[in-house]
Amino acid sequence: MKKDITIMAIETSCDETSVAVVKNGKDILSNFISSQIDLHEKFGGVVPEIASRKHIENIDYVISEALEESNMTIKDMDAIAVTYGPGLVGALLVGLAEAKAIAFAAKKPLIGVHHIEGHISANYIENDLEPPFISMVVSGGHTHLVHVKDYGVYEILGKTRDDAVGEAFDKVARSIGLGYPGGPKIDKLAKEGQNDAIDFPRSYLEDDSYDFSFSGVKSAVLNYINKCKMKEEKINKANIAASFQSAVVDVIVDKTIKAAKKLGLNKVALAGGVAANSRLREEMKKACEKEQISIYYPSIVYCTDNAAMIGVAAYYEYIKGVKHNMDLNAIPNLKLGNRI
Ligand code: KG4
Ligand code: ZN
Repeated sequence: MKKDITIMAIETSCDETSVAVVKNGKDILSNFISSQIDLHEKFGGVVPEIASRKHIENIDYVISEALEESNMTIKDMDAIAVTYGPGLVGALLVGLAEAKAIAFAAKKPLIGVHHIEGHISANYIENDLEPPFISMVVSGGHTHLVHVKDYGVYEILGKTRDDAVGEAFDKVARSIGLGYPGGPKIDKLAKEGQNDAIDFPRSYLEDDSYDFSFSGVKSAVLNYINKCKMKEEKINKANIAASFQSAVVDVIVDKTIKAAKKLGLNKVALAGGVAANSRLREEMKKACEKEQISIYYPSIVYCTDNAAMIGVAAYYEYIKGVKHNMDLNAIPNLKLGNRI
């Protein structure tokens, strides 16, 4: 009988302290997430120093909760995995120092994981999905259209030239007074608005480009609000939310489908925090069905930052024999596909 591979994973790249225990890259024995959202909310975004300090305060507690829920101890682990980039350097370092200390003391292999690779791997948890496929990664810091050629083998087809999608959601939300994080709030409010009430621009860039640009639509929303203010017209927040969301979703869906068709791939997987967006899920599903492409996305809890996805990505590294040394450092701008 094949031996089970159990990995404890730590994720501290931004504002969630999360630890998970994952068996065989699929069974999530625990996935404890301690969110700092309420701490950062009053500043309208993540404050890096506060994030690092809070990770330090939380990490030991989050580890014990995750181990307790999984009914396991460090001794039962085959490896300790940790996000080492991209992300906020101070935040990453907390998880990394903790993972190294545990791996060293318990004599377990250390596996550093790329955060975006984690987001993509979240799709393996609840689906029978195998590469090759197209993954549209839409998070607070990243917008990548990726050809997943094999486990851990990626080709970036396109990315944003300015704002990440989640960033645009958060900025637009702030401009209409919805607070941080804005994505889920826009998603909710948009349900009460009309998608075609305001004609916000859809930026497709050059014909053959898989790159994205969201700063134009974001500025268009801000201009629209300013114009309304100058004319002393009341703004309809729900219509702004719905029209903005629909402009952004249209471009993401069109480019993803175009890439899948061009590469002859019949599987598309959404990943990252914005993959939780209800309109993006619906529109991508409709477009995929029309083209006979299978669509995958993780449950909401595995879309936003969590350690389970890091444990899943680490499993595929483990079976390839990847191990990191104690000199592994945090790399805030680590590129997808770059191996240290
Ligand atoms: O992947 P994630 O948790 O963190 C990063 O790696 O960046 O993504 C966070 C982003 C935030 O910008 C948040 O506003 C956005 O995901 N988000 C959403 C939704 N839920 C989270 N955006 C649109 N609709 C949602 N339902
Ligand atoms: Zn993330």
